[in-house]
Amino acid sequence: MEGLERIVLGHPFFAGLGPEFGAAISGCARNLRFAAGEYLFREDEPANEFYLIRHGTVALELHAPGQPVIVIATLREGDILDAAWLVPPYRWTFDARAAELVRVLGVNARCLRDKCEADHDLGYELMKRFAGAMGERLRATRLTGPRCLRDAAFMTPGQEAREVPAGWSVPQPLRVSRVRRETADVATLDLAPVSPFAFAAGQFNMLYVFGLGEVAISISGDPAKKDRIVHTVRALGAVSGALARLRRDAVVGVRGPYGSCWPVAEAEGSDVVLIAGGLGLAPLRPAIYGVLARRQSYGRVVLLYGARGPSDILYRRELETWRRRLDVDIEVTVDHAGADWHGNVGVVPGLIPRIPFDPHHAVALICGPEIMMRFTIAALRDRGLASEQIYLSMERNMKCAVGLCGRCQFGPAFVCLDGPVFRFDRIAPVFGIREI
Ligand SMILES: Cc1cc2nc3c(=O)[nH]c(=O)nc-3n(C[C@H](O)[C@H](O)[C@H](O)COP(=O)(O)OP(=O)(O)OC[C@H]3O[C@@H](n4cnc5c(N)ncnc54)[C@H](O)[C@@H]3O)c2cc1C
Ligand code: FES
Repeated sequence: MEGLERIVLGHPFFAGLGPEFGAAISGCARNLRFAAGEYLFREDEPANEFYLIRHGTVALELHAPGQPVIVIATLREGDILDAAWLVPPYRWTFDARAAELVRVLGVNARCLRDKCEADHDLGYELMKRFAGAMGERLRATRLTGPRCLRDAAFMTPGQEAREVPAGWSVPQPLRVSRVRRETADVATLDLAPVSPFAFAAGQFNMLYVFGLGEVAISISGDPAKKDRIVHTVRALGAVSGALARLRRDAVVGVRGPYGSCWPVAEAEGSDVVLIAGGLGLAPLRPAIYGVLARRQSYGRVVLLYGARGPSDILYRRELETWRRRLDVDIEVTVDHAGADWHGNVGVVPGLIPRIPFDPHHAVALICGPEIMMRFTIAALRDRGLASEQIYLSMERNMKCAVGLCGRCQFGPAFVCLDGPVFRFDRIAPVFGIREI
């Protein structure tokens, strides 16, 4: 078997393809490489070739005049680009940019179209595979990125430093307008933005304590309230400790918002299961506000929250208010408690077998320590939820938050650009591998 034919037949997209089809496709193929930042193709150019990605990461981007770039998907080894070669007018409808060194097999479109005309079996085989792949991509796009752009004024997932709007790529000094002590080591800070601040549920800001340093902190407020920026901080080290001790009228540097978001709008019509462990309730709270604001658009809404002990429970008053509603199921559990606690004792995954939701029409959003998320995902899978229905928010050490320093690398992804919210199937191969 020739080298190119072996590559074609070994590519996941062509798994199970007959050798005669492999020979036909490889007869039109050539190896290509693109340096980081180089475009494989631009919107509206003729789709003269399609590509099988063999190595590297490709960002699919939409450009609109006066708008920041929207990254609609990030493709990797084993993915294909794309079906425009197969259907008239044979033009690309977006840009494809190499995010790093990319190696692909380029297949000449005219050559292959001619072979498909001559051999309809080949044509039908390719049509089936491309139609399936495009359907899946459309679904994936609907459930992730673009909505973050519409909801958030400034940054989108995958948006890079060159796109950072002036004023927000450097810390803006903002005044602390209110401080609430949540627990012994956790405080919620309201910051007063100089102009309306828009963000999407799940995104984070970089908070800078002058003279000490900068840390990533999720935005925990209501996305509909643009006159305040709310963060809930646990004192862990020097910077988070200083943030948690701030008083009213102190000044903090803020840049953002950054990162991807929870699929709040995309989950409309489905049951929504929100599962938080410890401080993980903070990044989920904006999603809860979003779902409750349009409660009639969702099926069942379930919130499970686990804390170490009763005195570690965040947003206690709000939880009690939500619990009084008749249209939300809320379960709170603690790891350990004294005799004065009359609620659940145990870990969050233990609640999952008995909560009411339809696994065929549900989306689960999870945030908490990684071990808790691992067991939670296993329990959800046992209830019949597919990986594509599960979203989780990941934390990694961050420095730049715009994809430059590599500190937040998580397998092939950068948490600051591709996350922090990931659809589980995208990170399943690396989730749970220690030290990744
Ligand atoms: C996307 C994202 C969102 C985040 N949202 C929040 C939030 O809403 N509220 C909040 O309080 N924190 C949040 N964090 C975590 C926060 O950024 C870290 O706690 C902070 O960077 C610690 O910095 P430090 O200088 O205070 O402590 P360091 O001196 O850097 O660390 C002090 C100690 O804490 C440990 N540590 C540091 N980071 C973490 C961590 N993430 N988890 C567990 N242990 C850690 C260190 O290993 C060390 O032992 C988020 C992180 C990310 C990446
Ligand atoms: S923090 Fe993600 S690359 Fe720098």
